Amino acid sequence: MKVIVIGAEGDIGQAACAALSPHHEVIKVGRSSGDLHADIADRESIEAMYEKAGTVDAVVCAAGAVHFGPLTEFTEEQFMLGLTNKVMGQVNLVLVGMNHLSDGGSFTLTSGVLDRDPIRLGTGAATANGALAGFVAGASIELPRGLRINVVSPGMLDVSEPRYGAFFPGHEPVPSDKVGRAYLKSVSGAMTGEVIIVE
Ligand SMILES: NC(=O)c1ccc[n+]([C@@H]2O[C@H](COP(=O)([O-])OP(=O)(O)OC[C@H]3O[C@@H](n4cnc5c(N)ncnc54)[C@H](OP(=O)(O)O)[C@@H]3O)[C@@H](O)[C@H]2O)c1
Repeated sequence: MKVIVIGAEGDIGQAACAALSPHHEVIKVGRSSGDLHADIADRESIEAMYEKAGTVDAVVCAAGAVHFGPLTEFTEEQFMLGLTNKVMGQVNLVLVGMNHLSDGGSFTLTSGVLDRDPIRLGTGAATANGALAGFVAGASIELPRGLRINVVSPGMLDVSEPRYGAFFPGHEPVPSDKVGRAYLKSVSGAMTGEVIIVE
């Protein structure tokens, strides 16, 4: 299958690519990294990415920004970062991508652990993650032509511990190869409408 991976050079993206590459043709995408460039925050850029890639069989997104900060200091603008970037960026990948995927193709989005196991400063991420679960449940029963959609919800990756470990006290890091296999399962398998928890 021909699979687009957005955020391919990030911690999760690299794990997904490592699992997918032996089985599928992977096209790596980032704003400035990868084979193709696109910004999920910009719908026109998403449209241009699909035009360049041609028909694809699967789309994986491992990108999405949120603001981290104390709830008591959160501004509306800071909340909107998670909603416009992590949520609507991935929603737009689906809305635009529906017309570019082959019959029976799939979307695999990325959320994260924080809506089920919250940490301090993480309300923006928890909100975005919950929204993505709702989107995937709703979209899965309406997608045309046998298209599937899932969202992978990993805990903190082992490779991300140096960056995020201090914010996740007591959290067990998740092996990156286990996270990668969740993306392979979503792309190559038959599941749809699922939040694939990896912890
Ligand atoms: N790391 C973890 O432990 C973990 C756990 C659970 C959930 N998550 C979630 O998973 C997502 C990815 O996390 P990560 O830690 O793997 O990120 P990361 O290491 O910071 O990498 C992000 C990747 O996405 C690309 N990217 C960033 N913004 C983009 C945009 N607007 N459009 C297109 N590409 C973009 C970046 O490349 P360019 O700079 O070239 O654009 C980079 O390759 C985030 O939403 C995060 O909240 C992460």
